[in-house]
This record gives sequence, structure tokens and C-alpha cells, in this order.
Amino acid sequence: RYSHTTVCASCCLFNTLGAWEYLSSYFHLKFNYKDDWDIYSFHINSTVSSRYATTVITSRVANRMDESKEIEFHVRIPKNAFISKFRMFMDGEVYDGVVKAKEQAQQQYTEAVSRGQSAGIVSSVGRTLEEFKTSVNVAAHKKVTFELTYEELLKRKLGKYELQIHARPMQPVKDFKVDVYIHEEAGINFLEVKGGLSTKALGNAITKTLADKQAWVYFYPTEDQQKTCDSCGEQGMNGDLVIVYDVNRDTTLGDITASAGYFVHHFAPSSLTRIPKNVVFVIDQSGSMSGRKIHQTRIALIHILNDLAEEDFFGLITFDGNIFHWKRELVQANQQNVGSAKEFARNIRDRGSTDINRAVLEGARMLNAHPREGSASILILLTDGDPTSGETNRERIQSNVKKAIASKFPLYCLGFGFDVNFEFLESMSLQNDGVARRIYEDSDADLQLKGFYEEVATPLLTDVTMIYIGGTNLTQTNFSQYYNGSEIVVAGQITDNNIETFTPQVLRNTRMTFTNTDVTVELTGTISDNRIQRVWAYLTVKQLLEKELQLSGPEKETVKKEAMELSLKYSFVTPLTSMVVTKPPGERTDVLHKPKEGERLDHHSQGPDGEAKFIIFCGRD
Ligand SMILES: *[C@@H]1O[C@H](CO)[C@@H](O)[C@H](O)[C@H]1NC(C)=O
Ligand SMILES: *[C@@H]1O[C@H](CO)[C@@H](O)[C@H](O)[C@H]1NC(C)=O
Ligand SMILES: *[C@@H]1O[C@H](CO)[C@@H](O)[C@H](O)[C@H]1NC(C)=O
Repeated sequence: RYSHTTVCASCCLFNTLGAWEYLSSYFHLKFNYKDDWDIYSFHINSTVSSRYATTVITSRVANRMDESKEIEFHVRIPKNAFISKFRMFMDGEVYDGVVKAKEQAQQQYTEAVSRGQSAGIVSSVGRTLEEFKTSVNVAAHKKVTFELTYEELLKRKLGKYELQIHARPMQPVKDFKVDVYIHEEAGINFLEVKGGLSTKALGNAITKTLADKQAWVYFYPTEDQQKTCDSCGEQGMNGDLVIVYDVNRDTTLGDITASAGYFVHHFAPSSLTRIPKNVVFVIDQSGSMSGRKIHQTRIALIHILNDLAEEDFFGLITFDGNIFHWKRELVQANQQNVGSAKEFARNIRDRGSTDINRAVLEGARMLNAHPREGSASILILLTDGDPTSGETNRERIQSNVKKAIASKFPLYCLGFGFDVNFEFLESMSLQNDGVARRIYEDSDADLQLKGFYEEVATPLLTDVTMIYIGGTNLTQTNFSQYYNGSEIVVAGQITDNNIETFTPQVLRNTRMTFTNTDVTVELTGTISDNRIQRVWAYLTVKQLLEKELQLSGPEKETVKKEAMELSLKYSFVTPLTSMVVTKPPGERTDVLHKPKEGERLDHHSQGPDGEAKFIIFCGRD
């Protein structure tokens, strides 16, 4: 029989493909459940309100064997979410997981190992999901209930919110249910259910109801149906249910929900017209881009160029160790120029090294040389590697870039594949009002590139400042650009919980464009309802983590400390905290870390579905 000892001894430090396969087959052997354990009930319950989703996964498992058995709980949750609770119920006892500072949890783990008690650390990174996995020893003919809670603020992208629910119970389950309840004061304007689990016969198992401010989605597939979706089989379901919706947007100031002294403001006016943009694409053509990557980049670029509006201006630079201009200055996106740029894009070839510094500075120069009243400038960098020629010191590159851009326009960095130092790209984007996105090397990479571009394709506002008289402890209030299909979200505390004196305003270019004349602050819930406070905490922690990335030295430490304290207070598992799973005495300690998107992963640790994983799983029974 396989035991943890075997695994630990033979592959504690595995990093190779062999180890991955070994691990897969190990799990396959060990958890060839059917006859030994029975998931007799699996429920996923998601409640969404003011775009904040709280999801509880409850799995009830029985050990049908005559001997005790290690029973596993293994689920995937959206990357953007924070786990906030994990409990196990067994033999009349409740075992509550505890969120601790990462170092402290790590220490507990190390001590457990050195005392000869086994311990496990489990974490992994995928495209949109990450894993939670633990296990517990269950006596013969006994049951265990696992309950995991996670929370996330749904982000509006391309005009919609998406709640992704992943279901892979590992076997067909008699009592399987997904219940989603959505409540939005602004009114829900459409509701759709997508994802692999909505295909084939499983589609019949979905019921959706939309009634103005509320919506319900139920998904109750039978055991037979659970074998019939595109990626489902004898082992039951394996796939996503994606709930898609948007809310009504009538009032110009958006909607503000308040409860128990906290508010959250969603601002995404529908009445605006697009403003022309100036966009420069800086495209890496270094040797490492060869093959499919450069091919997909060409395809995406050609699509993107096609979608430029006539009033837009654009520039295109490719770079390796040198820089290649299509044109030295920005030109108008008329038919002739777009045609010629597409020809240039078709002929991009991979070669040479990577001089990110020079390329980005040149892109910034082109935008700076082309100021245009009432337009929005955007710099987009696509790269698949680290700087290898010219200036290669990352801090100096960042400081050069920051100086060149001087907060005049956002820089978006697209990191292609896993050879990039994503954290470097991420902090550089954040320092310049942008964001970084990873492009996964896969057959749909061109669609990922195009999808990202679409999110920023239509600027509607620049230099937005949100002001809240009577508000305090506000999350970010200044936004360099606002794009069609996205949304500005600000949360904060209402001073003395006094709604009467609370006055929100939106300023643009210091001219007032939206006032509070028609705003109503919706009061929801009762005094004990802390939901909006959790939205505030979630946003604050996310933004502190981003700020931390941009800083160094003592400033970084201060921000880190603040983020950690809030994570602990609200029991969020963030990159700074860990969940220590509490188990009956004598059992292995499990510590769960939330991995960072920037985490450098070994190529070989990619799972079969293109999801990168890394697992350290050592210990003894
Ligand atoms: C889902 O969770 C909500 C909020 O905790 C609760 O009110 C509701 O009863 C739950 N629904 C089901 C079907 O368990
Ligand atoms: C914004 O996007 C919506 C579709 O999501 C579209 O109907 C609308 O026309 C767009 N607005 C502008 C100004 O482009
Ligand atoms: C936000 O913008 C306003 C004016 O637009 C400026 O006065 C203020 O300093 C900015 N705040 C931050 C935190 O950058």
C-alpha cells in the first residue's frame, strides 16, 4: 500500500516531469475511491450582493470500508478569491482552520516536521483557478464533512460580471447541488449561464430565474447527467459553471450601497461617448518568441490594428536587442496606415535578445511627442522574457520608465508564458497606472491578447477623481483612465455612520462632471450585517498588496504589515497569510498558502490541462 512516507522519501523535492507523472499516478492509485469512500453529498452555495460573492462548498463523505481511511477534500477556487474559512465536522467535533501570518504558519509546519510529526504544504497556480487540498483520517464506517468558504469581488469586464464555479467532486454524487443567489439593488439586466458544465444533458439540470433585483441559478444534475458534459466521465463532473450578469446603469453617479458604517460605490456611467486614443504597441520579437508565440502575436496584432477607430493614432515598435519602428511617429489609424502596419505585423520575425528598457522608453517618447487635447494615451508592452541586453537592471529600468511616463498615461504589460519575471512586469505596470496580465502559452493565446486589448480599447474618461465628503478610510480614489465595459469601485467608511452628511462626487480633469443631485445611497441589511465592510476589507487588502509590489525598503514593510493585519482581522488567506488546517490530535498538519501570480514555476510542473502546478507534499501517516 502506498503511504505518505513513500511519496515523501522518493519525491519530496520533485521538480521534474517524471515527478509530476509519478504524483498523478500516485493519486490515481491511492484515491481510486469508488469502493472505499463515498461522497454522498456535495453542495456549492454562492451568494452575491453588490458584486461581492461569498461561496461555501460543503462536501459530505462516508468511509464505507472496514478500516480507517485517509479522505481527501480537493477543490478549485477562483484566483481572485480569498479563502476565509475552512472547517471539518467529524464524530461530533468541529475542527476550525486558523488563518495565521505566513511566517508563523511556516514555523509551525517546520516544527511539526522536526518533531517527527508529518506536515503538508499545498498550493498551486492555474490560469483562473487555484487549488485547495487537504485530507483527514476517517475511522471505519464514519463520516466527515468539509466546509470551505471563499470571498471575491466580481470585476466588471467587457460589460459583464462573471462568477466562476468549478465542480470536480471526483465521483458522481447522489446529492449534488449548486445554488447561486444574486441580489443587486441597481437591478439585474441580464443573466446567463455558461461554462463546460452547461453543455449536453447537463444543460437540462440548470434552472435560472431573474426577477428585477434578484436572480437564482440552481444546478441539480442527477448522477447519470453528471457523466455527460464535455469534460465529464465515469469519475463524474469536471468543469465550470459560469454565471454571467450585469446590472442596470441609469444614474450617472452609479450606485452606492451602505451598511453598518461602510459603503461601496460602483461607478460605470452608460451615457458617455468614447474619446480618441493614442496607442503604442511595443512588441518583443526576441529569439524566445519563436514558433507559435510569434505567430499568435502576429495574428492578434493584425486583429487589433483592424479594430482601431479612424480617430485613433497609433505606433508600432518591435524590439530585440535593437528597436524597429514601423513609423517613427504616431500616425492616424486611417485605412492606408492600418493596411501598411498590418503588412509590417505580418513580417515580424523572431531573433536576438531583449532590450526592454530601450523599447519602452522609445514607446514613451513617441506618446510624449504626440500630445492631443481630449484624447487618452496608452502604452502596451508585450514580452516573453527578462531584459537581456542594454539596461538589464530591473530597478533601473523601472525608474527610467517611471520618469519617462511621468504619470501621463498608463503602461500595460503583457507577459507571454512563464519565462517572464511577472512580478517585475506587474510592479512596472502598477507604478505607471496600468496592470499586467499573463498570456498563457496555449492555442488561444491570440484570443487572450485580443481580449486584453478590447478591455482598454474604448477609453471614456481620463483622470477621474472620486470625492466623498463625510467618508474616510477610502480605497483608491484616483483613476487615470476609465474604459467602456469596466467599472470604478471605491469603498470606505462613513464618518460617524452619518448618511445625511455623506456626499459623493466624481471629478474629471478637476472639472466637475458628476454631482450628487440624483444619487441615493441604498441602505442594506441591519447593524450586524458586515458584508459591505468585508467588501471594503477585500478591496483594501488587494490594493495594499499591489502597493507593496511597487515599493521597497521600510515603506514596503509598513504596507505589508498593514495588509497582513487586515488579512488576519478578516481571516483572509492572502499571499501574506496561511490557513493552518486543524485536525484531530496525532494527524499531519496541513498549511495552505495562497500562491502569487508572479511565482516562477518550473516548466515541467505544468499539469495536463495547461495549468501550472506546484505542490510540496511531504509527511508521514
Ligand atoms: C446559502 O447560503 C445562504 C447564506 O449563508 C443561506 O441563507 C442559504 O440558506 C444557503 N442556501 C442553501 C441552499 O443552503
Ligand atoms: C460600450 O460598450 C457597449 C457594449 O458593451 C456598447 O453598446 C456601447 O456602444 C459602447 N459605448 C461606446 C461609447 O463605445
Ligand atoms: C488625486 O487627484 C487629485 C486631483 O486630481 C490630487 O489633488 C490628489 O493629490 C490625487 N491623490 C492621490 C492619492 O494621488
